[in-house]
Order: sequence, then C-alpha cells, then structure tokens
Amino acid sequence: MSTIAVAGATGTVGAKITARLTAAGHTVVPVSRSTGVDLHTGAGLKEALAGADAVIDASNAFPADPAADVVAAVAGATRLLLDTARAQGVPRFVLVSICNIENPVFDRNPYYVAKREQERAVAASGLRGTVVKTTQWHEFATNPAAVAFGDDEVTVGDWLVQPVAADAVAEVVADLVVADDAPQVVELSGPETVRLPELTARLLAARGDDRPVRTVPAEIPELAEGVQLAPATARVIGPSVAQWLRGEAG
Ligand SMILES: NC(=O)c1ccc[n+]([C@@H]2O[C@H](COP(=O)([O-])OP(=O)(O)OC[C@H]3O[C@@H](n4cnc5c(N)ncnc54)[C@H](OP(=O)(O)O)[C@@H]3O)[C@@H](O)[C@H]2O)c1
Repeated sequence: MSTIAVAGATGTVGAKITARLTAAGHTVVPVSRSTGVDLHTGAGLKEALAGADAVIDASNAFPADPAADVVAAVAGATRLLLDTARAQGVPRFVLVSICNIENPVFDRNPYYVAKREQERAVAASGLRGTVVKTTQWHEFATNPAAVAFGDDEVTVGDWLVQPVAADAVAEVVADLVVADDAPQVVELSGPETVRLPELTARLLAARGDDRPVRTVPAEIPELAEGVQLAPATARVIGPSVAQWLRGEAG
C-alpha cells in the first residue's frame, strides 16, 4: 500500500480520488488550505509530502485576489508541488488537466494557458509523471466558468461538451497513480455530446430546481462549435448523462 499526497483533496475530483484511494487501502495525505497546506505560500507543504510515494495534483489554486495573475498563481502552485516533491524524493506525480487546451483558440484564456504551463512543468520535472487530460465533467453543469445562478434564472454558456463523470475520472487517476507502467499522457471523455445549457437544465430538473435556464453565447465562439469535444485519442468512459443524473437526483 502507498502513501499518496492529494493536492485539492477537498475539491470536486480530489475528494473522489481520496475516497477511491482510501477504499483501496492507501494512505492519503490531503493538501489543501482547509487541511493546513497552501500551494501559494508553501506553508505545510514540505511536511505533507515527506515520506509520500506519489503526489496527485487535483488542485485549482486560483489567486485570492481576482485582479492577480491567474497563470502565475495556478501554474506556480503546480511548480511548487513539483519542486517540493523532487526535494522530498517523491518519485511519482499525476496531474489532472483538460483536453484540447493546446488549441490556439485558447491562447488568450489565462486559465487554459496556466493548465498548459502545468503540463509542461510535469513533463520537464524529471519525475515519473502522468498528465490525465479529461473533457469537462458532468459536474461542469454548475461550474461558474460557464454557469451563473440568479434568483430567477440560470444563465449557461452555449458550450458543446462531451462530459465525463468526475468519479469515473477519479477511478482512473487512483488506478494510474500506483501503476508501474502508466503512460505520460492519458485522455478521457464521456460517451455523449450535449449542449451545456441542456445538461444544466436536466441536472436542475433532477434536483427539483425549477429555475429556467437561459442560453448565452460562449465567451469563445469555438466552444459552441465543438472545440471541447473528445479528441480521437481519448478513452471513452461512462456513465452516460442519464445514468449520472439518476445518482444526482437523490
Ligand atoms: N471541472 C471540470 O470539468 C474539469 C475538467 C478537466 C480537468 N479539470 C481540472 O481538475 C482540477 C480540479 O478541479 P476541481 O473542479 O475538482 O477543483 P475544485 O473543486 O475547485 O477544488 C479545488 C481544490 O484545490 C484546493 N486549493 C485551492 N487553492 C489552493 C491553495 N492555494 N493551496 C492548496 N490547495 C488549494 C481546494 O482546497 P482549499 O479551498 O481548502 O484550499 C480544493 O481542494 C483542476 O486542475 C481542473 O483544471 C476540471
């Protein structure tokens, strides 16, 4: 059994990764501000990584100040994790990232530019690294990057997506981190394409939330045209949207 530090252990996918690793008998060291570790200041990081066999980066370290540099903060958090892992002698590193971010239509999207930098840093780190790139998750149906909740309506960017369940991603990440023969890059997607406003509307209906969904143009027009659908090289994994919604309804 292994000891695995999970950065972002309290987040959407990090909590599911933590649950899967713990169920498999591994020891998880959570890395997040709420568990006393800060990927911007480095507070508590060295102690958290000491003795770990692997690090999973499922963090989302946005700067506290919305005016601050997103690329520096988000990519800097991963660089600090990598540097600390190397200094602590941790040999294995898995990063959760996003499919298609290398497409030039995202050149001016600071978050995707930061994700590119994270991927490059893992590849250059000298650690045994795997980047798990996924399409948007089913849970993206409520993500503030594209969805705004008002009292009377919910506005949703007109993205065309091929969503994958965060728990299915977590299962793959939890398996890969302890695999001896993991590839350097793994791409994952879900089985169906759907427009994000429809996904959000179906999720709200399943939860008994009767707020209407209003479609608004996507910030980057290509998002409406399928630039975020699964690459041909992606492994397609369930559940379907309908199967996932059945789990969310309760
Ligand atoms: N959403 C999607 O559809 C999607 C698709 C593909 C890939 N991804 C990637 O998956 C990763 C995780 O996303 P998510 O939606 O699961 O994230 P999330 O729910 O926003 O959770 C973020 C996690 O990062 C931690 N964190 C934030 N700032 C931190 C800091 N300064 N120091 C330490 N920990 C910090 C948070 O804990 P504290 O607040 O306690 O610090 C939390 O555990 C991201 O890299 C994202 O790009 C997401």
